[in-house]
Amino acid sequence: MSHFYAVALLAFTAGWCLCAADVGDFTSCLQFFYRSWPPKGLAGTPICQRYFNQYRFATLYSRPRRSPWFSAYVYGAPEGKRPKASWKFEPQLTYPGADGNMIPFPPGPLDQNVVESQAVDPDYINSTFSRGHLNPSLHHHTREDRYSTFTLTNVVPQKAGSNDGPWENLEQYVNKTLEDYCLGKAYIVTGIIPYKEDDHWLKNHRVAVPEYLWSAYCCPNYNNSLPERLKGAFPTYAAIGRNDRNSTEEIVPVSQTAKKQFRGYDVRKMPLATLEMYLKNRFNTVVSVFYEQCSSD
Ligand SMILES: *[C@@H]1O[C@H](CO)[C@@H](O)[C@H](O)[C@H]1NC(C)=O
Ligand SMILES: *[C@@H]1O[C@H](CO)[C@@H](O)[C@H](O)[C@H]1NC(C)=O
Ligand SMILES: *[C@@H]1O[C@H](CO)[C@@H](O)[C@H](O)[C@H]1NC(C)=O
Ligand SMILES: *[C@@H]1O[C@H](CO)[C@@H](O)[C@H](O)[C@H]1NC(C)=O
Repeated sequence: MSHFYAVALLAFTAGWCLCAADVGDFTSCLQFFYRSWPPKGLAGTPICQRYFNQYRFATLYSRPRRSPWFSAYVYGAPEGKRPKASWKFEPQLTYPGADGNMIPFPPGPLDQNVVESQAVDPDYINSTFSRGHLNPSLHHHTREDRYSTFTLTNVVPQKAGSNDGPWENLEQYVNKTLEDYCLGKAYIVTGIIPYKEDDHWLKNHRVAVPEYLWSAYCCPNYNNSLPERLKGAFPTYAAIGRNDRNSTEEIVPVSQTAKKQFRGYDVRKMPLATLEMYLKNRFNTVVSVFYEQCSSD
């Protein structure tokens, strides 16, 4: 058998297209989606995020943008401090035979096949953006689950004014709300909204920068005696955050009283239906985040 046919056969049996469009599907990690139903309407490369031989969460990755469309996970009550973890990558994005575990970037020169297939440390070094987790380590209980969020396929270029300010406040608000009033599992999906036209990129034009981040949770089994301020926050609620000070204010208005370093990076909380309306407008297609809008239990 010639080398070409061996590769073609391997590609075929692994369900991998020679155009390198995809590495698989979400079959192995449907447990991270409410009712095993991944969001509909967005196209990309599914990654079942695996660390130490266990699936931890799921990501829909964009190869051309070298960054994710969304990550989906089950909330876990955090314990202890944010870990200091090493950054990891996904070998299977370039080597279809890899076992699917994420691994830390090795010291020394980078494998050019890996560099081609995904974002790498030097993309972020010396850029004016921080590494914004979609699935944050704050929303997980075990050390391994927390470490596993430090993979660059779970990260987008995020302005520090958002990452260290209003977006972090949102992550903390979600933690508090779910820990205090969610009685069963909470499913969270966090994603991005691209610029309408003229994508923005990190300095070397490899990694696309989002204009907004969004997030939504689904907690079907919750405590009914909600305080007034949380009426409407269950079973599902959502938010959109600005990642660009210069954006117009139709989607998220800017507070003039915010601290200077956070001004323009506001987060607006909203019902799931409102988020889905904005997603539909920007993606020009219906986007459904949760099965039957998380209303069917
Ligand atoms: C970052 O900038 C420093 C100082 O200009 C430079 O020495 C270094 O090579 C740069 N690193 C990367 C990865 O671009
Ligand atoms: C998460 O929320 C709980 C409940 O309100 C709170 O006690 C805890 O400190 C929060 N954890 C973090 C890391 O903020
Ligand atoms: C529901 O919330 C109320 C008010 O905060 C609290 O007293 C009650 O113990 C909670 N019930 C459950 C099952 O957690
Ligand atoms: C926002 O606009 C200012 C002034 O026009 C410009 O200097 C800055 O680079 C812009 N920021 C972004 C993120 O585009």
